[in-house]
Amino acid sequence: MPYTNLTFAVADRIATITVNRPDKLNALNDATMAELGIAIDEAVARDDVGVVLLTGAGRAFVAGADISELASQSPIVAQRRARVGQQVFRRYETSPKPTIAVVNGFALGGGCELAMSCHMRIASDKARFGQPEVKLGIVPGFGGTQRLPRLIGRGAALKLLLTGDMIDAHEAHRLGLADEVVPADQLTERAQALAVSMLANAPLALAGCIEAVNRGLDSTLDEGCLAESDLFGVLSATADMREGMEAFLAKRPASFTGQ
Ligand code: COA
Repeated sequence: MPYTNLTFAVADRIATITVNRPDKLNALNDATMAELGIAIDEAVARDDVGVVLLTGAGRAFVAGADISELASQSPIVAQRRARVGQQVFRRYETSPKPTIAVVNGFALGGGCELAMSCHMRIASDKARFGQPEVKLGIVPGFGGTQRLPRLIGRGAALKLLLTGDMIDAHEAHRLGLADEVVPADQLTERAQALAVSMLANAPLALAGCIEAVNRGLDSTLDEGCLAESDLFGVLSATADMREGMEAFLAKRPASFTGQ
């Protein structure tokens, strides 16, 4: 499908979604948000995609929701905008294919929330993270108040939320907001390598890990373990489980089909 505010490219089973409004630091206007939803749906639906990389064009990952649109919003429009954004971001979080935020620059407000909705975050050493909404008189609207404390703990999350301060990539890594930091000129290469290492594994097992983690984080330990054991059982019916174990025993690399 043709996109206006982002690019969507597939190579070697890796889909790369690039938010592409560099003159506005990739701020998420409503049109871009809608395209992000279409893009993740396309990536999940396509058989030739196994892993999704999400990044930004130019010097930003995403510098937040588009303030020029927020400035005139009514309470009802604002509530709807937040719910639409939350639903779109949730699709990145619940994607059965790994989603990796490749944070090349500013990840502020909705950009930080989008990165947090991906399964992991790899950051350039030039990246900056923050939730500056309080400086605009609002709270985050795309899940930031919920995902940030789950990722980095209540105190560290509230420090970022209440100060609105930006932190650099190394501080984000120390807090657990970024999973890796790499020099800017190695970001793409490292993201591709991560994707390739995931692509070598059984697709249904990847989806099972994501589902178990998501379901567990939304429930008790016992409920999460129940979900895990169900998935463990279901995956034992797959051709890929037989292939993975036969390959191990035969001391050869496994070749998975996703069946
Ligand atoms: N919404 C709309 N436009 C944005 C934007 C946003 N969230 N973030 C940046 N832009 C636009 C700027 O208005 C500017 O547009 P212009 O050239 O037409 O004036 C362009 O992107 C470049 O931004 P600029 O502020 O000139 O770059 P900078 O290097 O001086 O500062 C930031 C970079 C990220 C610190 C600054 O742009 C910023 O604070 N952005 C808003 C971050 C924010 O509050 N996000 C949460 C929104 S809820």
